[in-house]
Amino acid sequence: MRDLEHITTTRDVYNRTADEYAAAIGTTISAGIEAPIDRAALAAFVETVSLNPGTIADIGCGPGRVAAYLAGFGLEAVGTDLSESMLGQARRAHPHIQFEIGALDALPYATASLRGAVCWYSIIHTPPAELTIAFTELFRVLQPGGDALLAFQAGDGHAVTKPNAYGSGSALTNYRHNVRDVVEHLVNANFEVTTTIVREVIHDHESTPQAFLFARSSGSD
Ligand SMILES: C[S@@+](CC[C@H](N)C(=O)[O-])C[C@H]1O[C@@H](n2cnc3c(N)ncnc32)[C@H](O)[C@@H]1O
Repeated sequence: MRDLEHITTTRDVYNRTADEYAAAIGTTISAGIEAPIDRAALAAFVETVSLNPGTIADIGCGPGRVAAYLAGFGLEAVGTDLSESMLGQARRAHPHIQFEIGALDALPYATASLRGAVCWYSIIHTPPAELTIAFTELFRVLQPGGDALLAFQAGDGHAVTKPNAYGSGSALTNYRHNVRDVVEHLVNANFEVTTTIVREVIHDHESTPQAFLFARSSGSD
């Protein structure tokens, strides 16, 4: 894991606010947080990977909501996150699932070991210029033809810094990634983007459209 400012700050803030995050967002995918189309995206991903099952990683898992969702469909789900405190939440809520420390640019998985991966609002603290590095690491751990689903707040790539993130007293920067730029970073990392969904704001806790990208790793690098 690289010792970059955005990584250490993100880890520190989530380490100090994991309890508040889990209390506010919960430990499962829910209608209060995810809109019907968001849950439909997850359901479509489950159907896609179920044709040829294998291990699916919830990357930037937080309290393990997506891993638990996947496991609920009988899939072999695992999870990884930067934050030990978030991993603690995930392990307590979902003791049957394996969660381990890792980062988008240093995943704790062997090369070509995963059937699929979901990055559900976990690339939102990664600066746009770092995305190709993260997606190259994602490509490494996926089997050829492996499937990925990414969710994030969409915008023009600008940074939004919250001075008191999750009540931590510390500033945390979120990037409103530009969808076309994210697609380009995925293509740079040998992915083909098969589906793009952008929906408008539905919930009170949202301030931007939400994007969902389905990508498939190419057969070889
Ligand atoms: C907004 S939360 C989303 C958590 C979870 N996916 C969910 O939907 O509840 C962002 C999570 O991504 C993790 N994260 C952020 N940047 C990361 C990185 N570079 N590598 C691994 N995890 C990261 C954070 O620690 C945090 O748990």
